[in-house]
Amino acid sequence: MTIIAKINKWNPEPEKISQAAGIIKKGGLVAFPTETVYGLGADALNAEAVKKIYAAKGRPSDNPLILHVADFEKIYELVEVNETAEILMKKFWPAPLTLVMKAKNIIPSVTRGGLDTAAIRMPDNPTALALIEAAGTPVAAPSANLSGRPSPTDFESVFNDMNGRIEMILDGGEVEVGIESTVIDITNPKKILMLRPGGMPREILEETLKMKLEVPDSQSKKRSPGTRYRHYAPNIPVIIWRCGEKFPDFDNAAYVGIHAPEIKIKNFILFDDIKNFARGLFAAFRKFEREKFSCVIVEYPQDSFGIGEGLRDRILRSAGAENKNMYNKGEKF
Ligand code: TXA
Ligand code: MG
Repeated sequence: MTIIAKINKWNPEPEKISQAAGIIKKGGLVAFPTETVYGLGADALNAEAVKKIYAAKGRPSDNPLILHVADFEKIYELVEVNETAEILMKKFWPAPLTLVMKAKNIIPSVTRGGLDTAAIRMPDNPTALALIEAAGTPVAAPSANLSGRPSPTDFESVFNDMNGRIEMILDGGEVEVGIESTVIDITNPKKILMLRPGGMPREILEETLKMKLEVPDSQSKKRSPGTRYRHYAPNIPVIIWRCGEKFPDFDNAAYVGIHAPEIKIKNFILFDDIKNFARGLFAAFRKFEREKFSCVIVEYPQDSFGIGEGLRDRILRSAGAENKNMYNKGEKF
């Protein structure tokens, strides 16, 4: 039985936090809201607990997890913190920004997928921070979906994928960002790598660091295993449409995007800006899948900056159409 607890995301009830933290301390799994997507949490320093995350998600065991922290001191016990890390942590955290750094031995190999680095993030959500704090340990948490499925951005999506597989779900309603954190590798401060575009815009990071973020080469791609797998896909095909092009003609299709297509389509979700598009994309996929449409046609947001880069990445991957480094070259798909 999975315990379900509705929680006030901005001001979480202490008794619910302490129940959830108790489960994590004992090596169990708790799904909880963050500002990006829901996470599936376990004690990051307990190898047996972390193995349960991989099992509950059906996730390949060489795909490492992000360690979520609630205070700055803990980080120094986990990884080697260089000057770049200091600058970014102080300026941005808590934020949808994950930093890959050289790991210390305290982090079990299973948490880092066998790598010598580890990914760390401080989430910008009071419930997530309270849970981590009360658990008294870094919390390893991938997105709380079955492997390959769209990430969960509301309680119902977590429940559909995880009910019966984990001890507890904290229901904090809808998330704010809707796609996952930006992941950058800062182990070499002279060559910082964009491993996954996401909630923290590239432009802001480049301005702060006064340098361009680079494309992972084939060597560093091996160090970024998450990019190898198909992701974010609903059980119906995802078809990409670019505004200005001929609209695909399918029976019983649904549409999601910013611009209304010229031809009439009955079933659609239109967002008024790119932020709301990112926030609502995965829930739209899940809704259209549940309602048994033949496919979902999704607009490719060609010229948007900020979160647009992460959104394009998720759309390409959900359609199985990604060219791994396209977003780094600024090419249009
Ligand atoms: O917003 C987020 O980041 C969410 C919430 C729950 O915090 N979490 C999330 O976790 O998206 P997950 O496991 O779905 O994605 C983590 C990504 C994967 O692509 C993984 O390969 C990469 O981070 N990653 C983790 N540790 C790494 C490491 N040591 N080196 C390179 N990539 C790493
Ligand atoms: Mg994920």
